[in-house]
Amino acid sequence: MDEDLIGIKNSAISLILQAEDLKELEELKLQFLGRSGKLTLALKEITKIPVEKRKEFGILANEVKQTVEDTIKEKEIGLKKISKTVIRQKIDVTNPGIKPLLGHLHLVTQAIEEITTIFESVGFEKVRYPEVEWDWYAFGALNFPENHPARDDWETFFIKTEPDPKRGPMLLAPHTSGGQIREMERKQKPPIRMLNIAKCYRRQSDISHTPMFHQFEGLVVDKDITITNLKGTLDYFAKSFFGPQRKARIRPYHFQFTEPSFEVDVTCGVCLGTGCKLCKAGWLEMGGAGMVHPNVLKAGGIDPDTHTGFAFGWGVERVLMMREDLKIDDIRLLYSNNLDFLQQF
Ligand code: FA5
Repeated sequence: MDEDLIGIKNSAISLILQAEDLKELEELKLQFLGRSGKLTLALKEITKIPVEKRKEFGILANEVKQTVEDTIKEKEIGLKKISKTVIRQKIDVTNPGIKPLLGHLHLVTQAIEEITTIFESVGFEKVRYPEVEWDWYAFGALNFPENHPARDDWETFFIKTEPDPKRGPMLLAPHTSGGQIREMERKQKPPIRMLNIAKCYRRQSDISHTPMFHQFEGLVVDKDITITNLKGTLDYFAKSFFGPQRKARIRPYHFQFTEPSFEVDVTCGVCLGTGCKLCKAGWLEMGGAGMVHPNVLKAGGIDPDTHTGFAFGWGVERVLMMREDLKIDDIRLLYSNNLDFLQQF
């Protein structure tokens, strides 16, 4: 009997001390001292005890009851103090606030949104074609011969899977130009004004190249589209994205899927075209462009005798670096998850 009382006392004290609020304490009070509480019932057992031992049991029982009641009272005072402090703290408007950490969209996402707005406002339609692609879209339909070096394993990531009988091997899109054919198939007939922004993959990694990067590809196909339309679009983008003081130019180049083809440059943001150590004699290279090759129009089901078009493909990370050239001096910083770097923007 005595042992039962001591056991009840110990468990009551341990639970009371752990109580987190007044409600929990009230429940414990009922559990031990209520009408059918554990301690109350244990005390009633006194009638079953031999008369000569009742006095001793009575003294112990009173001590246990008193200790449990005292512990409850002390705990109650403590909990009331805590809740008063919490209430006081809640309404203390003079306390300095805790500044929450505010994040922002990643720089590349911000750039994609900005580029999209620039082109959508002159009638381009934003699409996003697959980053896992077939050889036919990435190369075959774009006039690449079977033995072109870009098809080489060292440039393109091929996926180990059965080749499609018509579209050849599966690969990670090395550029967004495959979207030209997919858009011609989707639209069936011109006019086409596509802006395809998607992820691209190449076996490259250095200060200005990452294995995964983004390109934005423009395609315009209609009647009487000329190089002048391409140059006008390019100037419009350069001024909208880089600022009114920047100029764009095109230089002759070679791509399999455009004829004629151009490399596109924009004046350097640091020297504004006079030449400095960051640029090539005042100019920075942005990407490729050209008039859509007749074979590509044919592969997309469009008659090259009635329609012409222009296309361009530029790097999202590249144009961002060209604008922020002093802050982003290595493209890999964009994917380093370095908060000190990202928080500058
Ligand atoms: C192309 O990919 C052509 N498809 C562009 C094109 C489209 C030409 C339409 C004509 C008509 P190029 O390989 O030069 O071209 O890549 C274009 C741009 O993508 C580069 O100027 C660069 O800005 C970006 N780029 C290419 N490789 C990487 C890379 N590994 N990391 C980051 N950016 C890259």
